Amino acid sequence: MLLEGKTVVVTGGNSGIGEAIVLAAAAEGANLVIDYVAHPEETESLIKRVEDAGGRAVGIEADVSSSGDLHAMVQKAVDSFGRLDVLVNNAGIETRTGLLDTSEEDFEKVLAINMKSAFFGSQAAAKQFIAQGEGGLILNISSVHEEWPMPGNIAYCVSKGGIRMLTRTAGVELGEHGIRMVNVAPGAVSTPINASTESDPEKMKRLEAAIPLGRMAEPREIADVVVFLASGKAAYMTATTVTIDGGIMQGSVGL
Ligand code: BGC
Repeated sequence: MLLEGKTVVVTGGNSGIGEAIVLAAAAEGANLVIDYVAHPEETESLIKRVEDAGGRAVGIEADVSSSGDLHAMVQKAVDSFGRLDVLVNNAGIETRTGLLDTSEEDFEKVLAINMKSAFFGSQAAAKQFIAQGEGGLILNISSVHEEWPMPGNIAYCVSKGGIRMLTRTAGVELGEHGIRMVNVAPGAVSTPINASTESDPEKMKRLEAAIPLGRMAEPREIADVVVFLASGKAAYMTATTVTIDGGIMQGSVGL
């Protein structure tokens, strides 16, 4: 198994891409720490699925926009499984609003949950990795929108652009400790964040036409790449981004 005995913390691990990462990592032998805010029952049922499949997972109540709670997640990994090997900064939200109609409150919320959480989660994980003395891995679930504009979703794009530079800069800073940081940039994925698009046949038609592979990704297709990156088979990758987008960023009407 690719992740035998490794301890992996996944923020936002109880739904969407995060849930798929939890299940895929557990299937490869990892021990999981999953947070919840509003819905402990979703985390509990996911833990049960992991355990029924022979894996190990624990839950913790955590607000990922709080630095203290992120430290608590890392500590939970250490208390439950003895160490931390991988942090996946996955939690994310979007407002689907543009510059002219994004409120200060919404802007701060998106930046706190998407970017501040990745920043302070990385800080907490890096301190633990340095204490363990054996390096470590931080994976940020970013987006194609870390570099590709999505008009009408501007706070999200700003947060993902910040995560792009977080990984570049902290990846350089942490190299001397053997700590690697890699962004995973999905395109359109069939998760709750895209529910409103998926329920609108007209929008789906336009979206699928823009994707060279002609369809959204399944969460598992992102999780499989995360497992590969967390295995020993990607040991020379750091301070960079892996894009998994069905070609959407290169799409062209050819006219
Ligand atoms: C966003 C989605 C969008 C997709 C492709 C994702 O990061 O969350 O709303 O459909 O990128 O543009």
